[in-house]
Amino acid sequence: MGTVGQGVLRLLGHNAEEITRRVGTSVVVTDVAVRDPARARDCDLSGIRVWDDAVRLVREADVDVVVELIGGKTVAREVILAAIARGKPVVTANKALLAEDGNAIFEAARMAGVVVAFEAAVAGGIPIIKAIREGLAGNVIASVAGIINGTCNYILTQMAEKGESFEDALATAQRLGYAEADPHFDVGGIDAAHKLAILAAIAFGMPLAYGEVAVEGITHVTPEDIKIAQVFGYRIKLLAIAKRHGAAVELRVHPTLIPDDTVLAKVDGVLNAVVVHGNAVGQVGFYGRGAGGDATASAVVADVIDVARALVTDSRHVVPALAFQPDALRPLPV
Ligand code: HSE
Repeated sequence: MGTVGQGVLRLLGHNAEEITRRVGTSVVVTDVAVRDPARARDCDLSGIRVWDDAVRLVREADVDVVVELIGGKTVAREVILAAIARGKPVVTANKALLAEDGNAIFEAARMAGVVVAFEAAVAGGIPIIKAIREGLAGNVIASVAGIINGTCNYILTQMAEKGESFEDALATAQRLGYAEADPHFDVGGIDAAHKLAILAAIAFGMPLAYGEVAVEGITHVTPEDIKIAQVFGYRIKLLAIAKRHGAAVELRVHPTLIPDDTVLAKVDGVLNAVVVHGNAVGQVGFYGRGAGGDATASAVVADVIDVARALVTDSRHVVPALAFQPDALRPLPV
């Protein structure tokens, strides 16, 4: 019940009528786990069983779907594996866990015939996983690139437009609920690298290859860099790029000079944007809020609805699994 968990609970409440119509039955939160029961929360927990042990909840509660929004890798992994062991579908926003341990988690899910859905793991409210996996499934993808860390984009925007310091902009991003628990994951480029590994797995059918992403964050970008870039007609953005070269895929995250009359240069604040090149469709762009409780809740609830629809119609394959091709592409060495 952190920033995203509270957003999910609020959204399921506000849009309950619409969601019930879409699913064919109501979606009810019966049990939640909290780290600190005394913490004030912006959501209504009345009528909901509150546990202080998430793993026990998943092992013992009588639920149909488990939504993991804990973050981090230790308890979250236990929660997801416990759900898979009980045959419960999982919805997660945990990009770090999936990027680093996802190959084993998706294999465990495949063996158990359980869905692990993860739309919220990349680009917050932009439905980029479903777009690439389903909407662009007929294409051979040449590249996926974009701005996929809202905190870095917010900081770079504030520095460029308001002359704000790096530290002040980061503090605001933390206050607004955009930043990771450890903001080094954001400003060090690690969060974007996690998301890029997931995007590349979807786009290219390759195993998750977080360890093969070349990463440079924004901590060394100075106000002078930004000013000089502006004088020459450029913006500095943290880009994540996955590009296919024959049977290999180049994976990199780094600050990039972008001409200021291009679409990506105009993506400001917490917004994310992803541009995909497919051999049939050409270039397609996706744009929207990439972080924050409500935007991320939008993606979590979409997955909950997918899973609920599959349960209602008894068609477990409605939510496609992340399956790797046997002759998968490989990452280019860093
Ligand atoms: N810290 C992340 C970001 C949250 O700033 O993009 C959304 O994944």
